[in-house]
Amino acid sequence: MADSPEQPVPASEPHVVVTPSVLYVGTPAYLVATTNPDGTPNLAPASSYWALGQMLVLGLEAEGQTIANLLDRDELTLGFPSGDLWRAVARLAYVTGRDPVPPAKAARYRHTPDKFAEAGLTPQLSDLVAPPRVLECALQFEARVRRITPGLDRSYAMVEAEVLRVHADPAILKPGTDHIDPTRWDPLVYSFRHFFSRGTELGWLPSSPTAEEDPPIDAG
Ligand SMILES: Cc1cc2nc3c(=O)[nH]c(=O)nc-3n(C[C@H](O)[C@H](O)[C@H](O)COP(=O)(O)O)c2cc1C
Repeated sequence: MADSPEQPVPASEPHVVVTPSVLYVGTPAYLVATTNPDGTPNLAPASSYWALGQMLVLGLEAEGQTIANLLDRDELTLGFPSGDLWRAVARLAYVTGRDPVPPAKAARYRHTPDKFAEAGLTPQLSDLVAPPRVLECALQFEARVRRITPGLDRSYAMVEAEVLRVHADPAILKPGTDHIDPTRWDPLVYSFRHFFSRGTELGWLPSSPTAEEDPPIDAG
């Protein structure tokens, strides 16, 4: 850090300019389930998303079966795997529900009609939407699409979805409350094509509903 705003360090130090192949800095991975035209479920790993209030915004590639399904049928579930499920997520990395496989994906991907079986995961009936939840995921959302906006170059779409219901394994809750206890919840993190557990807790905010005490922050 510079000592004062008037004397910034030279632009070239200490960082170097790079052109990384992806910009996946590190976000939770999730499994998005949708309904195929024949009524069977599709399941795909994804990591591009953010949440504010009850709304989610997902970034989905335009060539996938997932976005094709959502354009026709507006219901979905998101299952958030914990770190120990990373192999199941990786098993879905190079398979698509699209048949035939789009030419741009043909070299690396293959079609599979049953992603749950491919991943070794178990479909679980949802309460409010048609796509199933992923039983093994400790945190599951049922959601409905409210808007789909094409991306600038049409290679992706932004899906705004409203969360209708949240299901949580009691093991990740602060006992006796509706709060997900982040000390009991280990989201799978996807960073530059590597998988991580969430790591060591470093601190928390005074507004946390699960912390037992104010954080040891020296604001001075
Ligand atoms: C960990 C991980 C994260 C991914 N994140 C996204 C994402 O955020 N959006 C997306 O469209 N595809 C993402 N993908 C790629 C899709 O899962 C992949 O293209 C898949 O074939 C889509 O399946 P579908 O065609 O059946 O929808 C990700 C893949 C992995 C393994």
